[in-house]
Amino acid sequence: MATTQQQIIQVKNVKKSFKKDNRQDLLVLDEVNLELFEGEIVALLGKSGSGKSTLLRIIAGLIKPSAGKVCYRGKQIAGPVQGLAMVFQSFALMPWLTVLQNVELGLEAQGISREERRSRAVQTIDIVGLDGFESAYPKELSGGMRQRVGFARALVVDPEVLLMDEPFSALDVLTAENLRSDLLDLWQSKKTKIKNILLVTHNIDEAAFLADRIIVFGSNPGNVRTELKVEIPHPRDDQDPKYRLLIDNIYTFMTTSAVDVGAAYRYKTIGLGYRLPNVQISEITGLVDMLHEPIYQDKKVDLPLIADELHLNVDDLFPITESLEILRFAQVSKGDIELNAMGKAFADADILERKKIFAHHLLSYVPLARYIRRILDERPEHHASEERFLSELEDYLSEDAANEVLKVVIEWGRYAEIFAYDFNTGKLSLENPN
Ligand SMILES: Nc1ncnc2c1ncn2[C@@H]1O[C@H](COP(=O)(O)OP(=O)(O)O)[C@@H](O)[C@H]1O
Ligand SMILES: [Mg+2]
Repeated sequence: MATTQQQIIQVKNVKKSFKKDNRQDLLVLDEVNLELFEGEIVALLGKSGSGKSTLLRIIAGLIKPSAGKVCYRGKQIAGPVQGLAMVFQSFALMPWLTVLQNVELGLEAQGISREERRSRAVQTIDIVGLDGFESAYPKELSGGMRQRVGFARALVVDPEVLLMDEPFSALDVLTAENLRSDLLDLWQSKKTKIKNILLVTHNIDEAAFLADRIIVFGSNPGNVRTELKVEIPHPRDDQDPKYRLLIDNIYTFMTTSAVDVGAAYRYKTIGLGYRLPNVQISEITGLVDMLHEPIYQDKKVDLPLIADELHLNVDDLFPITESLEILRFAQVSKGDIELNAMGKAFADADILERKKIFAHHLLSYVPLARYIRRILDERPEHHASEERFLSELEDYLSEDAANEVLKVVIEWGRYAEIFAYDFNTGKLSLENPN
């Protein structure tokens, strides 16, 4: 499909263990799968010791995985490759070399002539805002300036993918803020060839401020817990309610994983052509409300019990529980269901707030809803016919199923007020979405 983003990096079933002692290995990464696409900043967010740096080094080709593989543009990485560059937390500058020489160092391995090395280094130093400091030594620079040199050394090789390992965490708060904004400016200015930034961090605010997608990484062993799309445009305002909701969401995912030590719950992640369950909003809100009643609150509830109460077969209940799971309001496992923190927040919210929460979850976890909204946002007239989406859905689904799925996403989207739909004309639009 034309809208599919180009994949750059694929991490497939990567495991890594280190020798702990003679008898035991320490499993640091277990079955890590992730993809990076053109045009996005991705944050890999996880606690200290969860294996983030190890994963980044594997992606960069600096160390080998114990199992699984990493592909760059479809080719398996077997060692350091051109196209990927790394920025380290500790700057890793050579104290006996000047700024210019430190930056040039990045090019030494590439067999480039002396003059070209020099001119590219000078240019890159300019880009990171260190013009005039070419002949300074690292010890003469502040922490922020040293990290700018670190950026320049990565940028000078003209990479497609910038891998950053906690690049702001050794800096004071204000310096870090400045550097983050400058990084965003550089990304948006398209002055470089960079197509993807993978930023490793343990800082929730940093991930929320910078990333288009946040991969929440769990510990012991490190693995991908869940993923959040961030649809808030830059520059992001930390007072914006959408931003607050995002932060809440991330906290929920981070803390949920802390509670379920070892056995993290994996939410279902669906694709664009997923056959959404045919469920009405009233059924979704009805089940959430029921699960929030005092007798069921804060515990896992047996699905057959609920079915009984609602005079439904368990099979009839399944699409509704599945939609709660897709929308990430509840966890379903082994025949039990339990509202998560956002499910509870939704249950407690008033009508308007409910719509906001629902909209956020719909756009984050239902790619079809996000896709429709994006098309409508991009079109100057802000409308599109349903036929257009139907024919796209028919790439994945039968005609009947495509019709049903579109009907479902339209109902959910109208409730969330992320778009409007006119039954007479079959047009989707952003006009008075209600
Ligand atoms: N070369 C190594 N040898 C042995 N253990 C290592 C090595 N590198 C990392 N580890 C261990 O792997 C775990 C994850 O480390 P790391 O990838 O640095 O985590 P993070 O970057 O998330 O803080 C830690 O327990 C660390 O001690
Ligand atoms: Mg680390």
